[in-house]
Amino acid sequence: MKKTFTGLSALVLAGAVGSTTLAQEDAAIEAALKARQSHMQLYAFNIGLLGGMAKGEIEYDADTASAAAGNLAALAKLDQSRYWPEGSSTLELSPDQTSALPDIWDDDSDIGEKAMDLVEATAEMETAAGDGLDSLRGAIGAVGESCSGCHKPYRQSDD
Ligand code: HEC
Repeated sequence: MKKTFTGLSALVLAGAVGSTTLAQEDAAIEAALKARQSHMQLYAFNIGLLGGMAKGEIEYDADTASAAAGNLAALAKLDQSRYWPEGSSTLELSPDQTSALPDIWDDDSDIGEKAMDLVEATAEMETAAGDGLDSLRGAIGAVGESCSGCHKPYRQSDD
């Protein structure tokens, strides 16, 4: 009787440990989703300022433009590899949790190159943004194309 009981406790314990591990995995994925989506929001905030100036909706100011462009360039260069754990795509999670398409994790995924395109475009923007509105306007297209160049293949669109 005692033996059975001990065996049962061991099983219960194993089950408890197992579910803790699963909960920890969920928490790790949750944290990664928050980090990468927040990073994207920082891109959007900073490019929003530059885009607003380019369109004439926000008055051009060299210091503000330079700062926003510097933020974009710095953000693009941050190591983002740990934002993308396996099991965090639209395949495993619901559409309100993520828009990250499973192709990101394919062997032939070129998401790293797409990220590099943004590093290059934002470096050029960093040089151009404080140098007058025309200069900013000349650089913004490439930045926007780098965003959409990655979103098209790797992000689920609403349409
Ligand atoms: C290397 C690929 C890549 C680049 C470059 C990129 N994005 Fe994203 N972006 C993604 C992916 C993938 C998602 C979906 C992430 C998710 O839902 O987990 C996303 C999501 C977003 C979101 C939604 C975030 C949220 O809160 O759900 C915004 C906003 C965004 N990107 C803006 C931008 C802007 C602006 C740029 C350019 C300055 C940019 N992104 C560049 C891949 C990229």
